[in-house]
Amino acid sequence: MSLTEPTPAPAVGTKPTSRKYLLKSGIIPRVKPSEWLSIRVVVPPAAQEAVAAVLIDSGCTGVEVREHPPSVIAYLPSEESERLSQIQARLQQLPAYDLPAIRKLEVQPVTEQNWHTIWRRYFRSRRFGTRLRVQPSWSRHKPNAAELLIVLDPGLAFGTGGHPTTALCLELLERYVQPNTRVADIGTGTGILAIAAAKLGAREVVAVDNDATAVAVAQANVERNGVASIVRVCEGDGFNALEGTFDLIVCNVISSFLEATAPQVPNYLNPNGVYIISGTSGRNWRKSVRPAIEAAGLKLEEKRKRRVWVAAVFRKC
Ligand SMILES: C[S@@+](CC[C@H](N)C(=O)[O-])C[C@H]1O[C@@H](n2cnc3c(N)ncnc32)[C@H](O)[C@@H]1O
Repeated sequence: MSLTEPTPAPAVGTKPTSRKYLLKSGIIPRVKPSEWLSIRVVVPPAAQEAVAAVLIDSGCTGVEVREHPPSVIAYLPSEESERLSQIQARLQQLPAYDLPAIRKLEVQPVTEQNWHTIWRRYFRSRRFGTRLRVQPSWSRHKPNAAELLIVLDPGLAFGTGGHPTTALCLELLERYVQPNTRVADIGTGTGILAIAAAKLGAREVVAVDNDATAVAVAQANVERNGVASIVRVCEGDGFNALEGTFDLIVCNVISSFLEATAPQVPNYLNPNGVYIISGTSGRNWRKSVRPAIEAAGLKLEEKRKRRVWVAAVFRKC
């Protein structure tokens, strides 16, 4: 797991009896349940906000305040378990701020079974931009006739639209995918962006991931969405898996990958081709990702930001 970026929320959603806090969070190259700890703090309502703030500030993700029973739930990457003692110490200081003391602090590894439950609870039907609707395979939501529907079962792969980086890429794809174009999706995860490109009219989409689990999930989702004749999913290492050139390449992978692969990008783009990136934030965007892509000869055309996350569009002139 990379810790160069903040880590991602298991997902985003709303529930009538709970408030979700969104996150200091980030991207992991692959989502495995064994890489997460779940934290449950039972605490009177008067101290819930403060507990949520401590957890967010300590690098937790998916922080959720529950009313019945009053508690706060969060997730911490297992690699950062050394932070638990600091979290505990800070929570014990609540009475010093005239807040009620916590009643219980439970920390458990996230098992594969409850990770699936988490995803199912958070992943809801949601619209992106003006036309794309993404929803889980178990949703009963009826899309309207004008919407382009993407139905996903994410399994253990990344990419439901719940994370800001995916959402930004979907919005940019809606704006930049032209009919009959050739598109590549580097780091496809669930296949969400590749399927979106196909539904938006791309003639051919090559979707690459270096994680065999993600490749299997993406392939199943491609078939589920009836775009198998357009999207080819392949296991491989980034741009090295591509053949030929593309009108548009989308890449939602961590900053270090975006920086390291920047010199390769122009070789795979047609003249006037578009490169959409996300997965970067703050200093990484300013000091490494943007300069590396511009040094490769691409011109920044548009930048969007959601919370800490940046997505950008570059063009090959
Ligand atoms: C943040 S997820 C993005 C998933 C999806 N495209 C989205 O936007 O939600 C990054 C994906 O990139 C993949 N990945 C990381 N390094 C890679 C590499 N060198 N080559 C191909 N895929 C890679 C990960 O396995 C993961 O599925």
